[in-house]
Amino acid sequence: MRPLEISDLITAVDPADGRRLPVRRAEVLRRLRENGDERAARIVAGLPADRDGVLDPDAVDRLLVSVHTELQRLSEELSIGTRLVHLLGPLFTAIRAAGGRSGPYRLVDVGCGLGYLVRRLAATGALGPDVELVGVDLNAALVGEADRLARAERLDCRFVHGNAFDLPEAATVYVSTGVLHHFGADALAGFFEAQAASPALAFCHLDLAATGLAPVGAWVFHRARMRHPLGRHDGVASARRAHPDEVLLRAASVPGMRALVYEPRGLSNPFCTTLRPVLGVRPWLEASLREALGRRASRRLVGPEHLGEAAR
Ligand SMILES: C[S@@+](CC[C@H](N)C(=O)[O-])C[C@H]1O[C@@H](n2cnc3c(N)ncnc32)[C@H](O)[C@@H]1O
Repeated sequence: MRPLEISDLITAVDPADGRRLPVRRAEVLRRLRENGDERAARIVAGLPADRDGVLDPDAVDRLLVSVHTELQRLSEELSIGTRLVHLLGPLFTAIRAAGGRSGPYRLVDVGCGLGYLVRRLAATGALGPDVELVGVDLNAALVGEADRLARAERLDCRFVHGNAFDLPEAATVYVSTGVLHHFGADALAGFFEAQAASPALAFCHLDLAATGLAPVGAWVFHRARMRHPLGRHDGVASARRAHPDEVLLRAASVPGMRALVYEPRGLSNPFCTTLRPVLGVRPWLEASLREALGRRASRRLVGPEHLGEAAR
């Protein structure tokens, strides 16, 4: 059975208007126990609820903000910002060079959480002044904290509460970090199709690599770095939920997009590979992207047709 993450179960929003919905603790306990996860059920049983058994939304928000704050260390230690700039820099160079669209451009971080990536990009100016930086999350508490931090740091970026695919302005490039494994394999195609159907020119989603070592690595990191049992539990569950390269490439191969993965299994050291990005680019953009990346990096960017070869 696919493991469940507690953080996915203890908040709920109305998909139509983003309104917060009450979550009954007993219902969460039932789902976790049905999934055979008694440890997670014990963690949720300790969360405060009102007399009707509805989880206290303020306590849940405080907990999620605190766990994501600890999680930010993982993003820092794994140099997530630098690793994405390694691809996003050439991607925006290719977009400018291919001349398909003039600037300014807009990068939208889907499920930005506390907005680490967007804040990091804003602080370093790594993508250039013609790229507007927007973080979007369905969780109002997380995106509110992202906004507070960005203001405190006087950063030129913005954060929006809502569905990243319902924004009034189109994205040029969609990105995300640590979001793909939250979707089941059957929901991935819809996620990528929404981006292909938009005017966006590309997407680049960084998520946990599905290697045999990932759950062990996640256990060590979360044991050492996370204080709350929820963070420790979900960290390991995330690694166990990670999608293999083949599954992501198949799902990302939607009409109008060329799906690619950077440093897939077989082209990277499994001891060092924790996260790797899956990209989709408009087919006419691929040659410019490869040129902007340079020969060495371009060889590490492969499509579905090369995957069997890379994995051997
Ligand atoms: C585990 S968090 C990742 C947070 C952040 N990217 C990070 O690396 O710390 C996944 C987030 O994705 C958000 N999310 C999922 N689908 C979304 C969508 N379509 N629009 C906006 N946010 C979304 C959820 O609300 C959740 O907060």
